[in-house]
Amino acid sequence: MKRREILKILFGSLTSFVIPVKAPAEQIFNTTTFINLCNLAISHEYGAIIQYINHAGLINQKKIKNVLLSNMRDEIYHARRITEILIKEGATPTVAMWPPQTGKNLKQLLEEDISGEEAAIRLYQQILDLKESSKYRDDFQFFLNREITHRSRLVELSNAISR
Ligand SMILES: [Fe+2]
Ligand SMILES: [Fe+2]
Repeated sequence: MKRREILKILFGSLTSFVIPVKAPAEQIFNTTTFINLCNLAISHEYGAIIQYINHAGLINQKKIKNVLLSNMRDEIYHARRITEILIKEGATPTVAMWPPQTGKNLKQLLEEDISGEEAAIRLYQQILDLKESSKYRDDFQFFLNREITHRSRLVELSNAISR
């Protein structure tokens, strides 16, 4: 994958996130696409974890809060597991985080969470398309399935409330 394509993922697919002020660009572009995308996934998961903590605190409805916290627990596992994968591959797992998004009303918060999940889905699909990911196919397929479930739960909650 060329640098331009990676930038397209950074700026195109992950539209709900902005580039961190200190994006580890040099670190990213000196390694393989698989490692780059795994590090991008870790940053994305870190951002999602904080975003879910924030949104769960802002939202009063217990049912919605529980969904956000359940998603957050999955994201913690994803970040931990990808960190282990990178260590096995002799790479350095990032500690960079995509800036979490917050909002002023319930609908807006849920829409931000849905767009984060959509970005995660695209990212895990990209990783699964790489031949280097075949060794860890079960892991990445599992992450992808969880992100699809997260999105569905959030869409259902969002559709049930008016703006
Ligand atoms: Fe995740
Ligand atoms: Fe998720």
